Amino acid sequence: MGNKRGRFSGRLGFVAAAAGSAVGLGNIWRFPYETGENGGAAFLLIYLICTIIIGLPVMLGEIAVGRKSQMDAYGSYRNLGNKNWGMVGAFGIICGIMILSFYNVVAGWAFGYFIQIVFDGLLVEGKGNYGNYFNSYVADFWDNLIFSFVFMVLTAFIVIRGIKAGIEMASKVLMPLLFVILITLIVYALTLDNAMEGVKFYLLPDFSAVNASTIYSALGQAFFSLSLGMGALITYGSYLKKKENLFKAAAVVTLADVSVAFLAGLLIFPLVFSQGQEPTAGPGLVFVALPTIFEQMGPLMGRIVGGSFFLLLCFAALTSTISLLEVPVAYLVDERKLKRKKVVFGLAALVFVIGLPSMLSAGAVDFFTNFMHYEGKNKSFLDVISDLFSEVGLVFGGFMLTLFITFKWKTKKMTKELSEGNPGYAKSILKSLVNFSITVLSPIILGVIFVITVLQKFFGVSLF
Ligand code: TRP
Repeated sequence: MGNKRGRFSGRLGFVAAAAGSAVGLGNIWRFPYETGENGGAAFLLIYLICTIIIGLPVMLGEIAVGRKSQMDAYGSYRNLGNKNWGMVGAFGIICGIMILSFYNVVAGWAFGYFIQIVFDGLLVEGKGNYGNYFNSYVADFWDNLIFSFVFMVLTAFIVIRGIKAGIEMASKVLMPLLFVILITLIVYALTLDNAMEGVKFYLLPDFSAVNASTIYSALGQAFFSLSLGMGALITYGSYLKKKENLFKAAAVVTLADVSVAFLAGLLIFPLVFSQGQEPTAGPGLVFVALPTIFEQMGPLMGRIVGGSFFLLLCFAALTSTISLLEVPVAYLVDERKLKRKKVVFGLAALVFVIGLPSMLSAGAVDFFTNFMHYEGKNKSFLDVISDLFSEVGLVFGGFMLTLFITFKWKTKKMTKELSEGNPGYAKSILKSLVNFSITVLSPIILGVIFVITVLQKFFGVSLF
């Protein structure tokens, strides 16, 4: 069976694919609005700390588990643990399906914006009030349906092509382009009036705004952004050869992910402040803040630059949706011995259908738009799925991974796996730090945060 599974061509291929998975809407869409809602610089700092002390070690753990077992997420937990541990993998696979169901909807928005800026009159019609434009845009059923359908089809086609030709290729070309356009836009944004107010908000921490919910939002963001907690990196790790240096790979992926998020913030906040908007606007933030500068660039340049930006955002999202889809695909191909092509189409269709209520939850249907009420807010269906699976679910998945390595698989074996392709690892200080995080720091923080989040979000208990 080992021979029939796909493989990355080498470390660069893996790094490109894993960085492609990590860098996505999480960095450019979600990170700025989370930062804006949670007080700015203090959130950025906590997010960075979570990424380094918890995210990176958990990432190493996932990749090591995957490469050791050479199997899908469920198979890895079962193989290195037992059937019961397999349930953790299965839970991750379900999280992946649910996350993809709403992620694809947001990707559809980005895709729609690309089309409307380049081929239609977004920069004319939205003039002066991109907030209204966004609200009516996402409330339109047909726009949502068509664009997220196209997006799902694109994802499926890449995943069908397999590991090397599909996933790896797409990531290698698109990632570098994204950096270039982000930096160009930042340079432009920083020249605008009042831009420095945004930079201050983003970089000068005000700790009075920090509470338990800031911390769990930051941790949830770190997990989501690094694609952790549901077996995506177990799956990608399983396509790696033994000779690759996993620590280096994980470090590069983390760095790429953090850099793009950081740059996205450095672009958005100067814009938001220079336009006198509120940083707390929520999920519409990038869709509202950016079109204004594109408009100011004039009709032709606006189309070119604005179009490129949203196109690249789509590409970043695409290398993430393929990783989300690959997790359940790998499970069905590895465990059930089904044909890749059939599995991909079947799952893509299923995920699309599960995503329908999310599609209708940004104003199209009131029942889904005001689906629940907690944390003092009305939550849409999309919000609820996102909270449940991409905040609570991933943190839980990460927590279980640390327990799995600590009590079942054992750090010794993890160290052995991480030493393949990196002979000095076992004796390095890094090893001690990673093991301390996996056995003590991460399980405690993740466990506590998980419990607090669940109580606070869904049972209305306010502890802080
Ligand atoms: N990390 C991606 C982003 O930031 C989203 C993503 C892709 C993801 N694969 C994942 C999130 C797996 C959690 C788990 O946009």
